[in-house]
Amino acid sequence: MTILIASDHAGFELKGILRTYLEGEGHEVRDLGVDSETSVDYPDFAHRLAAGIGSGEGGLGILICGTGIGMSMTANRHPGVRAALCHDAYTAEMARRHNDANVLCMGGRVLGAGVAEQVADVFLGTAFEGGRHQRRVCKIEIEAKGDGR
Ligand code: RB5
Repeated sequence: MTILIASDHAGFELKGILRTYLEGEGHEVRDLGVDSETSVDYPDFAHRLAAGIGSGEGGLGILICGTGIGMSMTANRHPGVRAALCHDAYTAEMARRHNDANVLCMGGRVLGAGVAEQVADVFLGTAFEGGRHQRRVCKIEIEAKGDGR
């Protein structure tokens, strides 16, 4: 499974650290930018990655901006994308087990490298539980089903 990764300027440094770390762990990582710390607009990179997830180019994605908030807001506009802003191993685990999140968002100005690596490890290594959570996840997609009920 290919992991897509992207950031804005505020997440550039952490993106590089995570890409190196994940490749060292044996993951195939496709970096969708940004390529420097020159200021950019985070939605451009969130849309690029979310479109790749939506089209099946990658199975899971990682988005990093200063807080992770703007990236998650933007990615969640894409049907089929469930982006979760995670700050620790617990939120990363639950985002996969209960929410079937397919995009992990993190704050490059919030998390240190060690915690970010742990969060990514847990997110990538945890499976969706299904069962009652599948019904709830299906209700997220209001665009496909009107009001979601
Ligand atoms: C950039 O300064 C910052 O606003 C951005 O990286 C992100 O935190 C937005 O949510």
